[in-house]
Amino acid sequence: MTPPDQSVLPGQVAEIEWQAGGVPVASRFDDPYFSLADGLAETRHVFLAGNDLPARFRPGFHIAELGFGTGLNMLATLIAAGDVPLRYTSFEAWPMAAQDIARALAAFPEAAAVAGPFLDHWAAGRRHFSLGSLQVEVIVGDARETLPRWQGRADAWYLDGFSPAKNPELWSGDLMAEVARHSAPGGTFATYAAAGFVRRGLAAAGFAVERRKGHGAKRHMSVGVLRP
Ligand SMILES: C[S@@+](CC[C@H](N)C(=O)[O-])C[C@H]1O[C@@H](n2cnc3c(N)ncnc32)[C@H](O)[C@@H]1O
Repeated sequence: MTPPDQSVLPGQVAEIEWQAGGVPVASRFDDPYFSLADGLAETRHVFLAGNDLPARFRPGFHIAELGFGTGLNMLATLIAAGDVPLRYTSFEAWPMAAQDIARALAAFPEAAAVAGPFLDHWAAGRRHFSLGSLQVEVIVGDARETLPRWQGRADAWYLDGFSPAKNPELWSGDLMAEVARHSAPGGTFATYAAAGFVRRGLAAAGFAVERRKGHGAKRHMSVGVLRP
């Protein structure tokens, strides 16, 4: 099989195929954007609970994400945030078209119910906007180039690339070192992934890595805290 061409051209958008049940699959990676079995519950289990959120939320708390996709993780965070002002920065190489995002989110009535203002910003081409109590920025480009240049430091990371087997460049040791370098003291990460090379990369980058029970039928996921 020919490996997918993963070079990023400016202005490219994601090409989507649709599985039964309304799950979007990225043609370039042949991988779904979220779990077939209730993606919103998986987001809450993996990314929110995995980072001990919302318990750690405080004004100015900064979440960063590798892989913005449909914005489902952002919307789950928005729902959990209530009135607490948070920052949310996400890195995305192939932004989805607004109509594809709307179609994907229709599978999650709770997220779709609060998605209107986000979809309006997105359709207008805005990648930096306020959403309820969230200050959102989506940095478009290959994270291997954009993250090293980023000036921010996150309190919590959502590592949500496609599967490490299909999207290894978003899980490389070099990129995990950049995640650590762009974490605040006491910063944490959470990911559904449990692949050995991902866990080793995060440990080498400076995180104390722990394996936890994954969502639903998935055996494992990974979380960690930056070592002092
Ligand atoms: C599993 S999806 C993310 C799902 C998303 N968090 C959500 O809530 O819908 C993985 C995302 O990583 C993006 N991606 C893959 N390789 C990338 C790279 N090198 N740089 C930035 N984004 C990348 C894909 O385009 C895709 O949107």
